[in-house]
Amino acid sequence: MQLLKYDVIILGSGIGGFTTAIHSSNLNKKAKIAIISKLHAMRSHSVSAEGGISGVLYPEINKDSEKLHAYDTIKGSDYLSDQDAVELLVKNAPKEIVFFEHLGVPWNRDQKGIIQERPFGGMSIPRTAFAADKTGFFMMRSLYDQVQSLPNVDIFHENFATKILRTKDAVGVFIIDLATGKHKVIYGSSLVIATGGFSRVYKITTTSHSTTGDGIALAYNAGASLKDVEFVQFHPTALVPNGILITEAARGEGGYLLNKDNERFMKRYASSKMELAPRDIISRAIITEINEGRGMKDPSSGLEYVYLDLRHLGKEIINKKLPMIKEICIKTIGLNPEEEPIPVRPAAHFTMGGINTDIDGRVLDIELNHINNLWAVGECGCVSVHGANRLGSNSLSQCSVWGRVVGKEVSKNTHDIKHDDLKELEKLAEEEELRLNVLFDKKGMYTAYELEDEMREVMEKHFYVYRNEKEMKKGLDILEKLLKKSTNLRIQDKSNIFNTNLRDTLEFINQIELAHAVAVAALNRKESRGAHSRTDYPKRDDRVWLKHTILAKDGSGIKINYSDVKITKWKPEERKY
Ligand code: FUM
Repeated sequence: MQLLKYDVIILGSGIGGFTTAIHSSNLNKKAKIAIISKLHAMRSHSVSAEGGISGVLYPEINKDSEKLHAYDTIKGSDYLSDQDAVELLVKNAPKEIVFFEHLGVPWNRDQKGIIQERPFGGMSIPRTAFAADKTGFFMMRSLYDQVQSLPNVDIFHENFATKILRTKDAVGVFIIDLATGKHKVIYGSSLVIATGGFSRVYKITTTSHSTTGDGIALAYNAGASLKDVEFVQFHPTALVPNGILITEAARGEGGYLLNKDNERFMKRYASSKMELAPRDIISRAIITEINEGRGMKDPSSGLEYVYLDLRHLGKEIINKKLPMIKEICIKTIGLNPEEEPIPVRPAAHFTMGGINTDIDGRVLDIELNHINNLWAVGECGCVSVHGANRLGSNSLSQCSVWGRVVGKEVSKNTHDIKHDDLKELEKLAEEEELRLNVLFDKKGMYTAYELEDEMREVMEKHFYVYRNEKEMKKGLDILEKLLKKSTNLRIQDKSNIFNTNLRDTLEFINQIELAHAVAVAALNRKESRGAHSRTDYPKRDDRVWLKHTILAKDGSGIKINYSDVKITKWKPEERKY
């Protein structure tokens, strides 16, 4: 088995991973940095980000302010975000937009050359910078060019990490090189997890097939705690039937949501914000319309939906600002949004919770102690800026701001690895190799594919927009059975070259653990807050539940703890839009 020594290891190659690499490389030219991606790095899910990145760019022109951005974010989060983290986000987000400008992102501009900002849900003022509706693609392209020019950064494309190896002073990752099936260990002094969220545990999601939460599961198994995983964001406008994201920018540019009576129903749910209310509120509104018989049904999939109508925007706006939306609709369902309204419904989009970190991105255990040499950045980490409901376009800012924070941290954490640590890493690697060999050879009863379908059905049915105890208990019961079955799997493909059957099986094992954690946390939180909406506890309960849920593995079970929400300036109040 190959053992490769680096100083900084970054698992994941989206915006969080790439920005961490760039900043740590710039601050420590001597550090050897490895980026490990299970895909070709440019296929990371960040390329799919559409609508934009938030940040206060022109306070003197539009009377915006960091304070207002912070307030919108905290109110949007249903007061579960840590306010110190939000203050850090809003203070630094504008710099990051300028940073990307310097890297070459072609931000949309007005005729005076000023970067345009578009309205997004829950934001008081338009403050989302964008590059048409392909913002993530342009940001990733610029980052990738930059990373490739750095002499101290190596990218390991299509290398799948199966385990985090930890000793007192060293950290490593056990990897399968997908192209050859060969195993290797990359080790060093700092590991940054930047692998994105786990929306794929749901049946219908706006996210790519790769968003299986691997890094979160690896950290969880390495002793990290998870925070607030019950809060899964359902984006209100996923295309029916395939779930592809129809960006919130479509509503930011003026799109309407209509029910079957052609009524702009948002007036009943958020009369001042209408289609630009936060996502949790719009998703609930759509499902309420459907439940009360004012939706429509797609005959082939049986999915119920409402309409997103862009026709009144006209061809020029659609072609200039939403070209990809038009292309997606035409190419995938044969519908031209210039001529017909788009069928949409809420789908899993983002995981507000994730690996529990402090404000510097350092990973914490269930007692809130730091785990040596481990950081998390981006969607996989929960630094608590989004709380119970993220505002659209705050995630690209979060990835960029904490990519810089964590890049700085890890640039300072480089040290030699002692002989004893290396020996211990080798021993842990041998154990992991044995585990994988057993899994590979096992003649188990189930394939990951059949169990995965069931898991996704359960999540969609029992842990969707509206939840209640009875349904969640039923769902949890099935997930627990699936978790047991996940120890009895068989891999049918016995080849070494690009064995996607092996990869899919490992991804499923990660996902079922995370789905189980979501279910436990959701059942445990007996209130409605943000995206966690319970029909049996319809109100927010600050007296008991103004706290973060912290979970950690406890043998084959889960233990639960809580931590305080950091309130700096904004006292919780009723959310009205
Ligand atoms: O709708 C969107 O463009 C999504 C943006 C986001 O999740 O931040």
